[in-house]
Amino acid sequence: MIDIHHHLIYGVDDGPPDLKTSLAMANESAQEGVTRIVCTPHASDEFPYKAGVINERFSELREQLSGVIELSLACDFHMTAENVFEAIDNPLRYSIDGKGYLLIEFGNTAIPPQMLDALYRLQSAGYTLIITHPERYPALQAHPEMLADFMRKGCLVQVTSSSLYGRFGKAAEALSNELLERNWIHFLATDAHNPKWRPPHLKKGFEYVAKKMGEETARRLCVTNPAAAIEGAKWPEQAEPVGLWNNVPLKFNLRKHQEPPPPAPKADPKTPRNPGAKSLWSRLFAR
Ligand SMILES: [Fe+2]
Repeated sequence: MIDIHHHLIYGVDDGPPDLKTSLAMANESAQEGVTRIVCTPHASDEFPYKAGVINERFSELREQLSGVIELSLACDFHMTAENVFEAIDNPLRYSIDGKGYLLIEFGNTAIPPQMLDALYRLQSAGYTLIITHPERYPALQAHPEMLADFMRKGCLVQVTSSSLYGRFGKAAEALSNELLERNWIHFLATDAHNPKWRPPHLKKGFEYVAKKMGEETARRLCVTNPAAAIEGAKWPEQAEPVGLWNNVPLKFNLRKHQEPPPPAPKADPKTPRNPGAKSLWSRLFAR
């Protein structure tokens, strides 16, 4: 298997904090049967892409992991206007091993209508776009038809392995499973950040897909499609994406899968809820 989305490089984003943790994560991937990891540090306002230190630590990891697992370099490219212009000015710079396949992520709050134009500009600059974990964005959960628009424009789709079995909540689980059933997923990857709370578990996702859709599909999402992206090869023929071209709406309904809000904490009758704050009444009738 090949994991095309993995924050393996330590100390450059919210991934592993040190070399030891990076090595432990890489070894865990290797034990699962992953033969290559694509290192994808964030390129965002919160975690700017620092090419110098990233290249240095990538080389260090590659040396230390020689004979254990192969590494490629890419990034988790946040779709900001600034990043888009930077990527257009430096063709293929952020793509996997500089061969054209670019992993993109959206903001968590909203996806603006200008996004289609921005995607088109990147495609015109030579990038093949991979939308990472669409099932986890609230904006796409609310409007999954936007994903269909992106796909009809030629974007590929990468789903987080553990979304399929519920680690990112009911909505992400339901949406990712419907995408799987419709053949709308091209890659399964871990988006690993940390051995404990975001572990590099791809095997469980592979087995999940194999059981539900057959081994051939699991191999396509975890082996052959990732290999094509790494080589920058022509995109291999895929299973027909059900309902994409004839606009059959997804059955997914966010309201059905939204988590109920957590119960309000019980107030202790002995202590006021917020001792420093004035009550509505005292504010209304203050003297
Ligand atoms: Fe990521």
